Amino acid sequence: MRAILSSLVLLLPFLSQPAAAQDASAGERSFAKCRACHQIGEGARNLVGPELNGLIGRHSGAVEGYSYSAANKNSGLTWDEATFAEYIKDPRTKIPGTKMIFAGIKSEKEIKDLTAFLKQFDKDGKKS
Ligand code: HEC
Repeated sequence: MRAILSSLVLLLPFLSQPAAAQDASAGERSFAKCRACHQIGEGARNLVGPELNGLIGRHSGAVEGYSYSAANKNSGLTWDEATFAEYIKDPRTKIPGTKMIFAGIKSEKEIKDLTAFLKQFDKDGKKS
């Protein structure tokens, strides 16, 4: 009985914590899906896709030295949170003709977490 009680006491602080709306560390795990093609952080380079530093607030097709598709370059989008959420859910619907081959992320929660992770990096890849 004692043991049960003390383990309850240990668990309580975790149970009473409200679920975070945006969880950057969960977002970092989700970013594993992007790493094959994208880098982020200090010294990030363009790979198959452009580096993603300072993404939220950035204009589409704006990374110097990266060869975008015409579809992306001419899409006229600014990557705010809502636009990014629509895009990452289904890239080829948001930008028909994009050369990003990615099925998309359907979970709203995962998209929020991923956004929280991406938002940490300023345009120089420094974490704020
Ligand atoms: C298989 C490779 C691949 C994967 C995986 C991938 N991307 Fe991309 N991504 C690209 C390519 C290629 C482009 C350039 C698209 C174009 O020019 O049409 C791109 C473009 C983008 C853009 C537009 C950038 C800009 O400067 O306009 C964003 C945002 C983006 N990707 C985010 C992501 C995120 C977040 C993930 C993971 C959830 C991801 N991508 C997964 C290849 C990939």
